[in-house]
Amino acid sequence: MSSKETQSNPVHNDFNAQPRFHQKSPEIQAYGTVSHMLPLELEEPIRLEMTEQLNQLLADTMTLRDLYKKSHWQTSGPTFYQLHLLFDKHYGEQAELVDAIAERIQLLGGISIAMAPDVAETTKIERAPRGREEVPVQLSRLLDAHQIIIGEARILARLASKLEDDGTNDLVVSDVLRGNELQVWFLSEHLVDMPLVHAVPSSKSKSAA
Ligand SMILES: [Fe+2]
Repeated sequence: MSSKETQSNPVHNDFNAQPRFHQKSPEIQAYGTVSHMLPLELEEPIRLEMTEQLNQLLADTMTLRDLYKKSHWQTSGPTFYQLHLLFDKHYGEQAELVDAIAERIQLLGGISIAMAPDVAETTKIERAPRGREEVPVQLSRLLDAHQIIIGEARILARLASKLEDDGTNDLVVSDVLRGNELQVWFLSEHLVDMPLVHAVPSSKSKSAA
């Protein structure tokens, strides 16, 4: 190409405006591995252990997040409106936790679990039926899932502290553990068997009547 032709066609031949579809290539990093060297002052074996534990917590948090959306859509009965709203609020908070845990895994040089089939294979939370369940069953199912996550969070927080991964410890205690504890309180109070309109008379006033 002469210098005159180059000047008349400034777009380099290797580039054009055509999008390149259907591209495929091998993975650049396998699941279950971490980058060898990062300027984090955390050795590779520690980051490997932390990312493995965080991925379990992530899979369970993603499952709980989705269980909240299922409950938001399928709830029914006299408490429909308040539970419909509460379940969606908790869904949003769990979605934020999912992002925070996943990004913690990535910044430690690992690979976050992401897709539904992989999450389903990994989670320890019991699979919910596709159909609709009564409110007390919805609440119990959610509380059982919280209990699994809270148990994992307590163990992981202590391990992270022992391995001097302060960032993971902070995330797990400040966000995951405290967030889940608070949601457990809000759900549990709905399972207290209280009269809606008539207070139950005391035995004394009953005998006087
Ligand atoms: Fe909605």
